[in-house]
Amino acid sequence: MSVKINTLEFENVKRIKAVALTPSKTGLTIIGGDNAQGKTSVLDSIAWALGGDKFKPSAPKREGSVIEPHLKVTLDNGIIVERSGKNSALKVIDSSGNKGGQQLLNTFIESFALDLPKFMNQSSKDKAQTLLKIIGVGDKLYELENKEKNLYDQRTAIGQIGDKKKKYAEEMPVYTDLPNEEISVSELIRQQQDILAKNGENERLRQNKIRLQAERNALNEKVEMLECELARYRDELRTKTEQLDAASKTAAELHDESTAEIEENIRTIEETNAKIRANIDRERAEREAADYREQYEFMTEQIESIRAQKRDLLNGADLPLPGLSVEQGELIYKGQRWDCMSGSEQLIVAASIVRRLNPSCGFVLLDKLEQLDMKTLDDFGRWLDKEGLQAIATRVSKGDECSVIIEDGVSQTKQKEWKAGQF
Ligand SMILES: Nc1ncnc2c1ncn2[C@@H]1O[C@H](COP(=O)(O)OP(=O)(O)OP(=O)(O)O)[C@@H](O)[C@H]1O
Ligand SMILES: [Mg+2]
Repeated sequence: MSVKINTLEFENVKRIKAVALTPSKTGLTIIGGDNAQGKTSVLDSIAWALGGDKFKPSAPKREGSVIEPHLKVTLDNGIIVERSGKNSALKVIDSSGNKGGQQLLNTFIESFALDLPKFMNQSSKDKAQTLLKIIGVGDKLYELENKEKNLYDQRTAIGQIGDKKKKYAEEMPVYTDLPNEEISVSELIRQQQDILAKNGENERLRQNKIRLQAERNALNEKVEMLECELARYRDELRTKTEQLDAASKTAAELHDESTAEIEENIRTIEETNAKIRANIDRERAEREAADYREQYEFMTEQIESIRAQKRDLLNGADLPLPGLSVEQGELIYKGQRWDCMSGSEQLIVAASIVRRLNPSCGFVLLDKLEQLDMKTLDDFGRWLDKEGLQAIATRVSKGDECSVIIEDGVSQTKQKEWKAGQF
């Protein structure tokens, strides 16, 4: 059960002379009046009565009063809280008539409900932490966010290296119509040696022809000299002539192969191989760039998966308000961060979180509600009603929205219940 305030009676506290108030059970009860009439003094008195000495005003007694402050609050769980006398001693009586103390009040009073600005003025991250704590997913979300951040940083680094590699690869020269592997010089030398060996054999045959020529000449001379031996030598001469013919024919058919092309290849091979190496380097650089791209995409998938886990975690959590969430450790409501929420949205967010901090505390105090226009005030009142939350607020106004008007520290008798939708 969440505890609400039934009645308030304050005398001689700060600006207050005498104030009595019966706030609505749920929704807004607005304390209206001009400036400096004692509106905030009423909220300060509630905080002091229920929150204890840490909420005690620095000058609690009304100046000019001879009587000590008196505060009385009755709660709907039957507890009666009073402060009175010289030391403003606390007196707490429970529904059975037993005495209690601040400790009993602390079990159902939420400090932030007495001082909502204290919650609202926290850093955005602290507010988000409070929310995560109350919905019980803080540690898990923190772990996921750490993981996500690490992956994100790694991916950024990989992406940068990948881009650099790609740019580097694109700037490298590329040559067409070349083999993929470097040409071997030894293969060309072997081919050259084969040709040289063949040419050597040709030379040998050429020498043979020259030798035969010489022998024939010698014989010819002999024919001239030795007429008598002509017949014998004629036969021989014919034979030799035939052999010479054959040899001449072979010799005529012989032709030497050129090594010029190979020599040119050997000369240009270094140049060619440098180009091939450049092609290989470029291919490697392209492969590396593609590898980094692949890694980057893999990490993007992982980051998406972590983000999905985070969404699931928050979607599965019992959030105090639809549209409320936490992103990157910051509170988000309807897609906006705290500093981009409207004043009334901030009030709703703060009230709903503080409510959840201690569900036993069924009320919240709100100062300076003049920031809300009538329509927003009405919407806020409806929301409070729906939540079953009691809000006691102040507003510089004497309009119909006010349940009570304070003038010169005194509550005027006008007491009306807030009814959502009446404005
Ligand atoms: N102990 C005290 N005795 C008498 N007057 C006091 C005391 N403490 C504060 N005041 C006066 O009370 C006034 C402030 O009271 P309070 O804050 O309740 O007014 P308020 O109606 O909320 O005004 P505002 O609309 O400007 O917020 C100031 O003028 C201050 O001087
Ligand atoms: Mg005020």
